[in-house]
Amino acid sequence: MKELKIQPIRNGTVIDHITPGCALKVLRILRITEGTGDSIISAVMNVDSKKRKKDIVKIENRELKASEVDKIALIAPNATINIIRDYEVKEKHRVVVPDEIVGIVKCANPNCVSNSREPIKSRFVVKSREPLRIKCFYCERELEDISAGIV
Ligand code: CTP
Repeated sequence: MKELKIQPIRNGTVIDHITPGCALKVLRILRITEGTGDSIISAVMNVDSKKRKKDIVKIENRELKASEVDKIALIAPNATINIIRDYEVKEKHRVVVPDEIVGIVKCANPNCVSNSREPIKSRFVVKSREPLRIKCFYCERELEDISAGIV
């Protein structure tokens, strides 16, 4: 039987090589779970890739903001962001976890100064990359569930 493959897109973004099982988290980061307008979105999970399995998310007619790409890096460090124009891959970037993660993750410590009324942006320092472990710059608490902390 002919295999049904996920369709190529004309314009938009393909997030490829997502850690298996994390496609839904990517959709949440991109707020797609709150509605998509009229763009076509497709997501597949656990498809075979060269070495290991992966998830893929395709979003038509949207290019991602830098902050959205930074958030994806935190849950899918091997993801690639492919920008598609007129069916061609025009740009391909691997996501990067920066040394300091500013303003995109909330500290889990309710008493942390970054959660006070002071206008202080959250700030995390990378303790280890594989597996990713980050700690708050202000209160030094390690964030156990990084994906739940993404704002
Ligand atoms: N893609 C798409 N629509 C297009 C072009 C590409 O959905 N019009 C998807 C492909 O299916 C793939 C991703 O975008 O999931 C990247 O495409 P491409 O660079 O052509 O694939 P590969 O060479 O396999 O990418 P990589 O080397 O990054 O694995």
